[in-house]
Amino acid sequence: MHANSPILQPVTIGGLSLKNRIVMAPMTRSRSDDAGVPPEYAAAYYAQRAGAGLIVTEATNISAQGRGYPRTPGIWTEEQVAAWRRVTDAVHERDGKIFLQLWHTGRMSHPDLHNGGLPVAPSAIKPEGQIRVHDGMKDFVTPRALDASELPGIVDDYRRAAENARRAGFDGVEVHAANNYLLEQFVRDSTNHRSDEYGGSLENRLRFPLEVVRAVVDVWGADRVGIRISPVTTAPGNTPLDSNTMATFGAFVDALSALGLLYIHDIEGVTQLSREATDGISFTALRERFNGAYIANNQYTLALAEQTLAAGDADLFSIGRPFIANPDLVERLRTGAPLAEAPKEYWYGGDATGYSDWPGLNGR
Ligand SMILES: Cc1cc2nc3c(=O)[nH]c(=O)nc-3n(C[C@H](O)[C@H](O)[C@H](O)COP(=O)(O)O)c2cc1C
Repeated sequence: MHANSPILQPVTIGGLSLKNRIVMAPMTRSRSDDAGVPPEYAAAYYAQRAGAGLIVTEATNISAQGRGYPRTPGIWTEEQVAAWRRVTDAVHERDGKIFLQLWHTGRMSHPDLHNGGLPVAPSAIKPEGQIRVHDGMKDFVTPRALDASELPGIVDDYRRAAENARRAGFDGVEVHAANNYLLEQFVRDSTNHRSDEYGGSLENRLRFPLEVVRAVVDVWGADRVGIRISPVTTAPGNTPLDSNTMATFGAFVDALSALGLLYIHDIEGVTQLSREATDGISFTALRERFNGAYIANNQYTLALAEQTLAAGDADLFSIGRPFIANPDLVERLRTGAPLAEAPKEYWYGGDATGYSDWPGLNGR
């Protein structure tokens, strides 16, 4: 029994009262239709997981241009907004809180998603490896470098997506600046070789991501905006993305802190694979540079969360994979009940099976 665990007690961050310190991490599940509309059963899926203090949705495309993977949801059409409204209503009925994760995949995409057109990126640099498309895996292609004149339009897409998230009833939004999608492609010096005011110096590389964050803050107020970062993650390849990772992320976090954001959501280590702080990164140093809340992620268990909270090294803890097969994960942590495990075949694609049909404790 862990009913008294400090992780499982109510907490307030910014102006947001949460049932506990557990966050459901964003997880792409690829069940939307080709128009990027989440299915009806997504409302049940998220509501079943409303025992989390906060849910961060699967990454959600801000525009058609932002898409990188088949059957991922969007937030740029009225149909998408209406479908998300069903989700937020269902979560709020269960007294949960839910943020939408705002996504533009940049070069981590494929012409199959863009009627044969090239994905866009800060620079024309091909990612290593392959990407999932409708009919299996394909090699990445060299993206088209964005012209500076196109960037204000993308900032507007983020602003519109943030406004749509408000209309859809979310409690806030998380800007996805992790896992080498568009915003991180600008931040990292290996993926940004621009020679204009959006590349080169650290200040220039941070310019576009910060313009995006400011636009989203204009819509929501800084106390309802979080951001996700993954300083150690090397995706899509295995080599560090930065020549000086700590300097880059130190400056990024300082700027985010100055904007007064609600939280930074830090993937500590290589996403899903390792918790090691390689490449000169210190997670605690990043946390200390940020005035708002710190959400720690990557392979957290209740015991590790308790230890980290006691050391003062995080405020909230996001958990991903265990939420797939354990809709009532928080209840199971509270009671010490065993955790179910989801076979990988259910992670991406398919229908309600392996998604919204996992039973809670005692089959509830
Ligand atoms: C199926 C799956 C989908 C994911 N999709 C996203 C996503 O949409 N956005 C994101 O920021 N991270 C995504 N991640 C990463 C998770 O949020 C999390 O960082 C990772 O699973 C490590 O946490 P865990 O050890 O608690 O699972 C995904 C992970 C999995 C397993």
